[in-house]
Formats: sequence, C-alpha cells, structure tokens
Amino acid sequence: MIHAAVIEGRGAFEPWRDAARALLQTGIAPDAVDWRVFDAAEARLDFDALPVPAGGAGKTSAVPAAFLDLAAAAICHSDPARFALLYRLLWRLVHEERLLLRVHADADVAAARAMEKSVRRDAHKMTAFVRFREIVAPPGARRRFVAWFEPEHFIVARTAPFFQRRFTDMDWLIATPKGSAAWDGERLTVTPEPAARPEAEDATDDLWRIYYSNIFNPARLKVKAMQAEMPKKYWKNLPEARLIPELIAEAETRVAEMAARQATTPLPFHDRLQSSFPAETLPVPANNWEALRNQAMGCTRCPLHCHATQTVFGEGPGDAEVMIVGEQPGDQEDLAGRPFVGPAGKLFDRAAGEVGLDRRRLYVTNAVKHFKYEPRGKRRIHQKPNMGEIEHCRWWLAKEIDLVKPKLIVALGATAYAALTGERKPLSEVRGQTLAMEGDRALFVTVHPSYLLRIPDPQKKEVEWRNFLEDLKAVTCLMQAASMTEEDALPRARLAIP
Ligand code: URA
Repeated sequence: MIHAAVIEGRGAFEPWRDAARALLQTGIAPDAVDWRVFDAAEARLDFDALPVPAGGAGKTSAVPAAFLDLAAAAICHSDPARFALLYRLLWRLVHEERLLLRVHADADVAAARAMEKSVRRDAHKMTAFVRFREIVAPPGARRRFVAWFEPEHFIVARTAPFFQRRFTDMDWLIATPKGSAAWDGERLTVTPEPAARPEAEDATDDLWRIYYSNIFNPARLKVKAMQAEMPKKYWKNLPEARLIPELIAEAETRVAEMAARQATTPLPFHDRLQSSFPAETLPVPANNWEALRNQAMGCTRCPLHCHATQTVFGEGPGDAEVMIVGEQPGDQEDLAGRPFVGPAGKLFDRAAGEVGLDRRRLYVTNAVKHFKYEPRGKRRIHQKPNMGEIEHCRWWLAKEIDLVKPKLIVALGATAYAALTGERKPLSEVRGQTLAMEGDRALFVTVHPSYLLRIPDPQKKEVEWRNFLEDLKAVTCLMQAASMTEEDALPRARLAIP
C-alpha cells in the first residue's frame, strides 16, 4: 500500500520532520511513501490515520544530530526528490547503519550532501547579493527598504536572521519568488508564498555603480574567479552587473595606463622613518666577492631600492690596496649599474690621472648602493642619503672591506666618512687627515668630486681643484709608504665589470 505524505514543500523543515517521524514510528518503508507538496486543493496528511503495519510499531531510535543538520539544509533544495531521499536516508540510518553518513561514496549520502552544499552556497550568495532600495516611509517612521532576489532554493527563512542582525535599525522587506522576509524593528516575518517583484529603483543605485566602478581593480581581474564568485544568474538583480562587461573589456587598457603613470612619490619623512626601522634579517654573508655582489643585487634593507634602477655595487681588483668610497650612485651610475661613471666619476678619473693614480688599481665603491633622488619633471634630482640609509648599507661596505682587505681607504665626502666611522662630522674637521682604522688600515678623508662640480665661482673652483689634487697626491704617497711595488701596479684579480 502506498501512503501519501503531503507537506508544505517550501523549505520548512518541521512539516517534513513531523511526517517522517510519524512514518518511521509506524514502520512505513520509504518505497511505500509518495511524498507530495501541499497544495490548497489537497488536505494535509492525517498522521493519526496512518495504518500501523502488522507486527507492531516501527523503530524510533534517536537520529544522529549530523543528520538533522543535513536534512534541515537539504530540505530547502528545490528538487522535489529531496523529501523521499531524506526519508530513505533516515530509514537506512535507523534500520541499517548508524554511521551511514560517514560513507561518502553512498549514493544517497552523496546526493543529500550535494543538495546541502548547493543550499548553503545559495544562502551565502543571498547574503552577498541582496541590494536594498529605499522607499518612502510615512513621516516619523523608520527608513524603509525593499529588495528583490531570485534564489535557486527555498532559503529565505534560513537566511532572514542574517539580515535581521545586519540591518536591525531599518525596516526592510526582501521579496523573492520563493517566499519573503520582513523586519520592522520588532518582528521578523517570513512567508513561503511567492512574492511579486517590487518596482523600486533609487538614487543609491547610481551611487553604488560609481562606487563599484571605482573599487574595481583591473589589475586584479580574473574573469573566471569573478564569475565563480558572482555567477551570472544573479546578475540581473545587481545594479552594478551592467557595468561588468565594460569593466572587463577596458581592464587591459586601464592596467597599461596605471603602469605608465608614475608611482606616487612618498614624502621625504616617509623614507626617513622607514630607514630608521631595523633592517630585515640578512643572509649569511657570502665569502666571495661575486656571491656578495649577487646578494647585494637583491638588497631591500631600506626603501631606496624601491625607486632605484638597480644596486650599484663596488668594482675593481679583488685585492686592491686602495679602496675609494663615494657617497651613492648618481643618475648615470644607477642606469649603468657601475660606480663613478657619470660627471663626478669622470672628474675623479681626471684628477687621479694627473697625480699618477691608476683607477684600474683602485677598488671603487659607495657608502650607499642605491640611487636616492627626487623626481622633478623628467629629471631625477640627487638627494643625500640619511643616517638610517647609510647605517643599513654599511653592512655591505663592511663586507666589501672584509673581502678586498685594502690597506688604505679614501673617503670621498662626509657620507663616506660617516659610513666608514659611524660618525657624522663636518668635512672641514677631518679633511686631509689620515686616521687609523681597524685591521691596520688607514683612512684618508677628502672632498667628494661632485663638490667641485657644484662650485659656481671659477676662481674658487680652481683653488678647490688644486686642493683636491694635493689630497690625491697624499694618497699616492700613502700607497707608496704602504710599499707597493711596480709589479703590483697591474691588477691581479680584477673583479667583473659588466
Ligand atoms: N657619486 C658617488 O658618490 N658615487 C658614484 O658612483 C657617483 C657619483
């Protein structure tokens, strides 16, 4: 005999649960039940009238809580087969296997789980895609909003508490073809009847579209992921959806424009602050020059690397007796990736040549390895590195000194002096002095050649040029005093120059 179980089939769990419980208690097997959705023309099932099969009452053992959760979700699914499926599962749990839900390969379990998943996803989409529009409220009343949503399943009752919590300070009505929910500040009312679409469009739709197109980041666009997140079936009720095809079409051009636009230049204090933070943990220093240089190429110890083209590492013989330390690469050095190749470098080479110092015998480097500048129009104007930047970069300079082991180091300018000694001093106090450094090493201090380039007065320029030559002569004498022979004059192991 087939028993008709007629229930309200619009997502409510209790009617199905009550019917299923009664059928189970009566011992009516799943095959013998014809589940139907209530319609006004039919009367509800009168469970008292169910025939009890011969042999006594059926089983009523407790049902695992996991099944109740699963059934409460799956019952919201729009597939009419869900009632029979869930009853069959219930029957099997009670009569066959209590741990049935753990058997994921079981066809009934898999089908119920798939329904549960689809319902949860639809509910999640409803929380994300309901768009309220304001309607006129009577004077003195709370603001009123309506929304139209088209869910795939009967999820309105399930999802309504979310909206009640989230939009508690306004009156709202969410109408859907699968029932409606309304909140008036005191009561949440949910009805299963299909609703008509409210005609409401308000000015915030335009505002929302403007906002959406502004937060849309074309550089992050992943069309497939976007459509998975915002499936097309929901688009028709989303005010922003009409913008999407155009935003996608324009994305490539906008990304190219963004790339072409100059990056925002941080204000000076930003770099100053950043460079005073502790530097990142350093790698174990490489013990050969080539490897050290490679490490330095990826240096991010201070913010200067963000805007510079590349690290400009030192170059020259790996066993040079003299190391020249400048301030930082300039515009041309930054582009070439080599120290002292621009105007200051050329002036230094000229002065060195005049006093018989062969640059090929010198290891030439800088206190700071990245070009610091301020963009001005198309030009990049040199900026002095601050003490924080010098401090971060000293690590590399110290490693260069450890590897090259020069007998004499020449500091060109105050930045080089600060990097080599850790002290800031007016250059006039230390210029021309030969100071002792750790490791039996001498430090000679002179001006930076760019200082000579900046002197406007030709007479003063000439005087300072002479002074500089005198300083370099002193360097030559110090080299000789360090007893370097003519055979040493040619570099033994010149380090790679690109
Ligand atoms: N000034 C420096 O201090 N170093 C260079 O490499 C170029 C200019």
